[in-house]
Amino acid sequence: MKESLILSIETSCDETAASVIKNGNEIISNEVVTQMMTHKKFGGVVPEVASRQHVEVMTQVIDEALKNANTSMEEIDAVAVTEGPGLIGALLIGVASAKALAFSHQKPLIPVHHIAGHIYANHLIQPLKFPLIALIVSGGHTELIYMKDHLDFEIIGETRDDAVGEAYDKVARTIGLPYPGGPEIDRLAQLGEDTLNFPRVWLEKDSYDFSFSGLKSAVINTLHNKKQKNEEIVSKDVATSFQNSVVEVLVGKTISAIKEYNVNELVVAGGVAANKGLREALQKNCQDLNINLTIPPLNLCTDNAAMIGSVAHFLYLNGKRADMRLNGRSSIDI
Ligand code: KG4
Ligand code: ZN
Repeated sequence: MKESLILSIETSCDETAASVIKNGNEIISNEVVTQMMTHKKFGGVVPEVASRQHVEVMTQVIDEALKNANTSMEEIDAVAVTEGPGLIGALLIGVASAKALAFSHQKPLIPVHHIAGHIYANHLIQPLKFPLIALIVSGGHTELIYMKDHLDFEIIGETRDDAVGEAYDKVARTIGLPYPGGPEIDRLAQLGEDTLNFPRVWLEKDSYDFSFSGLKSAVINTLHNKKQKNEEIVSKDVATSFQNSVVEVLVGKTISAIKEYNVNELVVAGGVAANKGLREALQKNCQDLNINLTIPPLNLCTDNAAMIGSVAHFLYLNGKRADMRLNGRSSIDI
């Protein structure tokens, strides 16, 4: 198979990242500068602030990726960049940088879909085997995707309102936990009990779509009622009850999809893949059904450029190219 050495760039949200990837699965360098501490002050990502911070560190992050890979632009075969979806101002910084590099060094420019990247984070751990189901759970996305082959994505379910990480962060805020609240709720959920019996939102029979805003409202209403009645609010029980509802639905729909599509492979991606309750439930169910489960390590679950370089390898071999008209796109089909 033809070899590739790709410089990839990712700036779709609040991580400025660049990576050098060989043949789609070998991480030569992987640099990430996170803006998390900045956005913490605001209780969430502020798009304008994110764009400015990308501008400040982008060049340095790219230089580091090349330096730590012990290579230079002369040896790079192509420049890949996240085209979307994401925050438009943030995406534009990565796209403009990739265009400048590709143009000045006369290299092919490869646009990559951010969610495809999340799925291919698993290819950096072990080669993807098809057919597979991918569960993507992050601050911006909740999706079930069926893949018959490389670059062949069929969305079979997605959120109709809040993404799962977004629901975690909003619920965390209502119980007074700092942003990002997901890890904190996960920690508390290990300590509490499921006393509140929140709804499990399955939607229509056979639907693989998700909805988390009703659950979020149920949590807020329950806390409000308890406050009015002067009843004690036990945060760890709220966390356990919320997490159990989320995990039961995520895992239930994923397992149904695995059965209906008759696959043996499940790959998981996105920041919420760090969730202990979700990991344990997926591990148990996959073991019972003899399904191969892959969950990348945390640094590859959250936004990074290595995953973008992995997809880009396959796009490169397929001849996918963008020209200098490439633009960031806040929403874009996979
Ligand atoms: O993939 P990611 O880093 O960024 C996006 O592309 O969205 O995901 C961040 C999300 C946040 O909402 C954060 O609260 C959530 O992942 N998260 C978790 C855990 N760790 C991170 N949610 C639940 N449990 C966790 N352990
Ligand atoms: Zn992401």
